[in-house]
Amino acid sequence: VLSQAASFSNGQEISRILGVSRSAVWKCINALRDEGYEISSSTRRGYMLGKSPDRLTTAGIRAGLNTNLPEGEVLVFDSIDSTNEEGKRRALDGAPGDSIYIAEEQTSGKGRRGRVWSSPKGQDLFFSLLYYPDLEVFKLPMLTLIAALAAAETASEWAGEKVFIKWPNDLVLHGKKICGILTEMGAEPDRISYVVIGLGFNLNRMTFEKEIEDMASSIRKETGKTVDRTKFFCTFYRRFREKYRQFLKDEDLAFMMKDYNDLLINAGRELKVITKDGEKTCRGVGVNKNGELIVEDENGRKEYIFSGEVSVRGVYGYV
Ligand code: BTN
Repeated sequence: VLSQAASFSNGQEISRILGVSRSAVWKCINALRDEGYEISSSTRRGYMLGKSPDRLTTAGIRAGLNTNLPEGEVLVFDSIDSTNEEGKRRALDGAPGDSIYIAEEQTSGKGRRGRVWSSPKGQDLFFSLLYYPDLEVFKLPMLTLIAALAAAETASEWAGEKVFIKWPNDLVLHGKKICGILTEMGAEPDRISYVVIGLGFNLNRMTFEKEIEDMASSIRKETGKTVDRTKFFCTFYRRFREKYRQFLKDEDLAFMMKDYNDLLINAGRELKVITKDGEKTCRGVGVNKNGELIVEDENGRKEYIFSGEVSVRGVYGYV
């Protein structure tokens, strides 16, 4: 209520809007102050929101989304092993679908292929989304592509320039990785029982560990712009949610193929396709409605690459 108001809102008015007692409002105000929100109060006029903390909070995210979404829970952890692990634990405990788990810091952040995802406190964004879609298992990678497009569109908006997608799901700004996505699931023999989609965005961090500093960067490091993490998250979530709903209706990616291909860094580039049997060089064309990467050899012969089986690298490096 306070974030929506132009000036003071009185306690009685707030308790009427929220359908809670005045003392509940007062307790909430104090809890928000403890979280770092500056709230001025005046006996006659009520409460007014000043500065919000640079912290991710459930209240901040719910207010930023300003809808009745998500349907599930929104939990922010000060520190956690991995939001994907938390999502999976909660899925097994029967947590509601469309839930969001966010962390200020991850102590065992996970990347793809068993790699570590560096997740220091307070500057970047690490979160996982939990859903129970009624889908066949082979459609799982398509969810990752949806998240990648929503992420690239959001990051492009904040960066003020195109942030590209390296198929299937890395985001690249000025040739450096600024976001990675790790999708995990629990499944019956052939249908998905739950899916956890985890995203790690390097937003404001200026320094990186030695091992990754050549390859990784952040929006702030590349553009000089500081990103408001709550607003960034809310924009991402809205975009993702819209595409996700469309996908559940269509069960393919035709509706977003053009947008994805517009941001695909591999399109028209020479790349190395690396499989367990070796590697070959070809040219990237684009993705099809199944989310497969179409590549062409020098004779123009097309092949369709399904994510998970292969990794794609630029001929001269990461992209
Ligand atoms: C990759 O590019 O290797 C994927 C990185 C995915 C990182 C995110 S951060 C939030 C979520 N929790 C994790 O442990 N990993 C994902």
